[in-house]
Amino acid sequence: MSKSIRHFLRLDNLSRTEVVSVIERAIELKVCRNNGQRASILENKTLAMIFEKSSTRTRVSFEAAMAETGGKAIFLSSAESQLARGELPEDTARVLSEMTDAIMVRTFEHEILNTYAAHASVPIINGLTNDFHPCQVLADLLTWYELRGDIEDKKVAWVGDGNNMCNSYINASSVMGFELVIASPTGYETALNGERVRKTSSAKDAVEGADLVVTDVWASMGQESEVELRRSVFKPYQVTEKLMSYARADALFMHCLPAHRGEEVTKEVLEGNSSVVWAEAGNRLHAQKALLEFLINCN
Ligand code: CP
Ligand code: NVA
Repeated sequence: MSKSIRHFLRLDNLSRTEVVSVIERAIELKVCRNNGQRASILENKTLAMIFEKSSTRTRVSFEAAMAETGGKAIFLSSAESQLARGELPEDTARVLSEMTDAIMVRTFEHEILNTYAAHASVPIINGLTNDFHPCQVLADLLTWYELRGDIEDKKVAWVGDGNNMCNSYINASSVMGFELVIASPTGYETALNGERVRKTSSAKDAVEGADLVVTDVWASMGQESEVELRRSVFKPYQVTEKLMSYARADALFMHCLPAHRGEEVTKEVLEGNSSVVWAEAGNRLHAQKALLEFLINCN
């Protein structure tokens, strides 16, 4: 495997300078698209996308990103590929490396993604694992940057499950230098830590004075059997207008989506003035174009 390959398995695989440069490039590409132009930056490049879990945003944003930049994305559901019949990730990684310029993987254990990375000779991109969701947080950082500028030293509140999104926020806090306060119910805290990260069981404590409030579903993909239990445990962690009132008056609300109105967030907050969730979702497209260009063209 070539030493120069850059994978994107976790947000902290990029330095602060690299994140900022990807964000700035994403903004350029967004402006270009909004002016009706197409930047053919990935002409004749091919992205393979392996999905072992459902997706709307990740799939469409990667496919659209490749289509709009002159490349092509190939969708592989694990059920319809030889993965379902036992072909190993290490073999799949080597085969797809012979045919494509990058491979996006959405899977369960993060270790599976590491196996792809260890055997691929093209960049591996994390399209979500049980432990991390860095492409989403890259889009969140882009959204913040466009609306508010530098996130350094801002206070971000994570309210809810100590899940893959929460972990990628911990990585982002280290890379970008923001304060992160995580409010989770006992037993649902993440094990990951960070220099600027504090954990609490109080949602109000986390949100007090926050510049950005973020939440996610209470039961992630793969936790379907826990839905009912989690609904009762997480009830005090619902992001309501009352909870948002403890944040700064100009605080933003983000959610990676899909959202469950009346569970982790009320309809009023999701559809309210602080919410930037639609722009955040749209920014997946622009952030990923810039990320693909960075990873494919630096190899
Ligand atoms: N936010 C996100 O990754 O959405 P999908 O599961 O629809 O890809
Ligand atoms: N935490 C959620 C994110 C979905 C985009 C999950 O893993 O299902």
